[in-house]
Amino acid sequence: MASAGAAARRQTYKGLRGWLDTVEKLGELERVSGAHWDVEMGAITHMLTEKSRGQAPAILFDDAPGYPRGFRTLYGQLSSIKRIALTLGLPLDYDRKVDIVRRYHARMQEMKTLPPRYVNDGPVFENVIDGDAIDVLKFPVPRHHEADKARFIGTACCVITKDPDLGWYNLGAYRSQVYDGKTVGCQITEGKHGRIHRDKYFARGEPMKVVILCGQDPLLFMLSSSPLPEVSEYDIAGGLRGEPLDVVRGPFTGFPIPADCEIAIEGETVPGQARPEGPFGEWMGYYSDDTQERPYVNVKTILHRNDPILTCAPQHKPVDETGLLKGIAGAAQIWRALDACGIPDVLGVWNHEAGPATRFTAIQIRQRYPGHARQALHVACACQGGAYAGKWTVVVDDDIDAGDLDAVLWAMCTRFDPNVDVDLVQKAWASKRDPLYLPGNFNNRILVDACIPYDMKLKGTFPPVVDVSANLRSRLRTKFPKLFH
Ligand SMILES: Cc1cc2nc3c(=O)[nH]c(=O)nc-3n(C[C@H](O)[C@H](O)[C@H](O)COP(=O)(O)O)c2cc1C
Repeated sequence: MASAGAAARRQTYKGLRGWLDTVEKLGELERVSGAHWDVEMGAITHMLTEKSRGQAPAILFDDAPGYPRGFRTLYGQLSSIKRIALTLGLPLDYDRKVDIVRRYHARMQEMKTLPPRYVNDGPVFENVIDGDAIDVLKFPVPRHHEADKARFIGTACCVITKDPDLGWYNLGAYRSQVYDGKTVGCQITEGKHGRIHRDKYFARGEPMKVVILCGQDPLLFMLSSSPLPEVSEYDIAGGLRGEPLDVVRGPFTGFPIPADCEIAIEGETVPGQARPEGPFGEWMGYYSDDTQERPYVNVKTILHRNDPILTCAPQHKPVDETGLLKGIAGAAQIWRALDACGIPDVLGVWNHEAGPATRFTAIQIRQRYPGHARQALHVACACQGGAYAGKWTVVVDDDIDAGDLDAVLWAMCTRFDPNVDVDLVQKAWASKRDPLYLPGNFNNRILVDACIPYDMKLKGTFPPVVDVSANLRSRLRTKFPKLFH
């Protein structure tokens, strides 16, 4: 929860353009003119983000060589806690990083989902392109990393698919390579909702229709890249906003498309049609993804606003522009699972940015009974929000801030016995982006109990911590205000 010390500033915005206006007023928007789509945009974002410790700006690129002014790209949307809070409609300032996860988790629990509202028109219809005129390279689609072999239009994107059995629409951020103006890729990992949908269509020998949004409200991107249950991200976005999203029907797919989105690509993917996809610099920080034959999308329609903004999030060696976004989204889901399993006294969950995503998760609990810590570890590692590609899960006591890596490391170095405080989980859900994934695409992972052994805690035999007490801290702050402003 936002502390008393932090002002509970909350702000709302409308659509990506309203979001950009607000971010500019907050002083968190960098405008860059003249960067080339060929690796310069991606590299600038990498360099501005890598050592920024959550303070990197959002970067709006314009005047890309060979493209009309106004055809922009936007990188680093969610690389500061303030911008994530703005996007989620939460107070903007926090003393501890885990407090935004607590707020987000609480908001997700209390809100009621709201399905989108269909409207007949919207700015996305300002340009409707089909037939021979289709060309996705009319936008300054970047080649993001120096060893990428192609330009990727879908990175900070939302791929919309429809469950053929249940009829619900999923939005997932799945990367999209450009093969030519009319053909793009769509790399969906096993187990992701879009992949389950596609597998169902293909098993019946049917093509799958798809919409790829490549410029939209950052809230939709955040939800698309979050490990959420089988509920449409549209309905969750409406619930978080407190009002339904306005959508139009795509001319080819009939799918709901945000009326104010920047770029929407409609198409279909056909069983048996596949092309080599990749390589692409990936989220674990390596070019670890082998080039493979993967299904692709035949583009049928392009819809876009005038002066469109192509949103991008290519990811790099951590800490990158998606470290906070993935960490916070996953941590809120882990917290939800811990609550749902009845684990008491969870005080914090944080996925450390350098992990990245859920590779290093810290859970902070107030120990209540023997085995409490181990129980929290196993749930956090196995629940849907934490299961994909995890590596380290660590549990710490209530006096250790889960979001403070120094504190977590201190607990691991002083409250942990390698002989008894480790559990290993084998053959878990892995990612091929992991350079050490096992044959069959499994991975092994480690659970670390860095809590004070419960019997020592009960008996009071664990040594006291060398610290400055809360009373003395507060007295000194009052006495020497200039030292501690
Ligand atoms: C910038 C970014 C790019 C991503 N690219 C991919 C991708 O290419 N393929 C994939 O399967 N998951 C990718 N992910 C992860 C998924 O978006 C994430 O697992 C999400 O939960 C998927 O949605 P789903 O749970 O509805 O399937 C990406 C995440 C981010 C933040």
